[in-house]
Amino acid sequence: MSNTSAQKLDSIQNAAQTAFKAASSSKDLYDLKVQFLGKSGSLTEIMKEMASMSKEEKPLFGKKVNEVKQLLEAVYSEAEEALKKNEISAKMAAEELDLTLPGFARSKGSQHPVNMVIEEIFGIMSRLGYSIRTGPLIEKDYYNFEALNIPADHPARDMQDTFFIDKTHVLRTHTSPIQIHSLETEALPLRVIGTGPVFRCDSDISHLPNFHQIEALCVDEKVSMADLKGTISFFVREYFGAGLKTRFRPSFFPFTEPSAEVDCSCPICKGKGCSLCKHTGWIEIGGCGLVNPKVFHAAKIEYPKYQGFAFGFGIERMAIIKYGIEDIRLFPENDVRFLRQFVK
Ligand code: DAH
Repeated sequence: MSNTSAQKLDSIQNAAQTAFKAASSSKDLYDLKVQFLGKSGSLTEIMKEMASMSKEEKPLFGKKVNEVKQLLEAVYSEAEEALKKNEISAKMAAEELDLTLPGFARSKGSQHPVNMVIEEIFGIMSRLGYSIRTGPLIEKDYYNFEALNIPADHPARDMQDTFFIDKTHVLRTHTSPIQIHSLETEALPLRVIGTGPVFRCDSDISHLPNFHQIEALCVDEKVSMADLKGTISFFVREYFGAGLKTRFRPSFFPFTEPSAEVDCSCPICKGKGCSLCKHTGWIEIGGCGLVNPKVFHAAKIEYPKYQGFAFGFGIERMAIIKYGIEDIRLFPENDVRFLRQFVK
């Protein structure tokens, strides 16, 4: 074996060992591996010197090169493992999670109280066989007034301050026009709940220009005031709680005859008298009556074969009474401090 080749091999081994151990990153280490052990690296290069060696020298030198190669590969693996360990711990230290930091709290949404009340009322009425209807917000004068027995220039129109769109269209002032749409299009007998926003040119601590109503219409053969009273009393008990009384006061609505105003005993003071019921023990919740034959006539329904009753309540009012809300203007404001109270 030529002395110089052996010396070269030794120095390659030393240089590689030192370099592998000193490498500061996996990438540098890998580059060094290519440099010393790669296809055109130092060891491959030195093997070429075998060409000029004698028959006896060749296997000895070959063996030596292999030993050096194995040794260097072992040193490489050791260095590689050490570097990887360091790199992982450095990465972990850099990305350390502080599990004691407060998380990102997502506030919980809630249904708007108006929708809660609609859903609750519908839940009660659906048990009596009623289905829900909505209807257009911009109504023909005919549906909002005429067909409900409120002719043009009739003083009853003054009961509801109206937003006019043009000469024949209004923003509906109540949900009662939904009754007419159902009477015109649906098969009898009929039990429907009409609900949604309504609009009146009115605004103070107890009135909003846009509020919501819910309305029931039942049409069948032989429907009487007793059915109406039974249905409303059931509804009041289910909605406000058992033990509440219902009272009917004669009143006037053009689309019902006879008509009545519905009061229930105050759910807050249970009839003893408080500020909500103005110390009367009773709270007005809406209007009702038997469907006026003139309404049936307008909708081309055979009367007295078919008879019916209807009642209508303000949704915000139903929520105010049930939850003791003091200002109706809180409903459209959508202040989360108000809405949050209704998170279930
Ligand atoms: N539509 C009436 C209003 O807004 C409320 C009403 C009264 C509805 C009597 C009815 C009813 O269905 O029978 O003032």
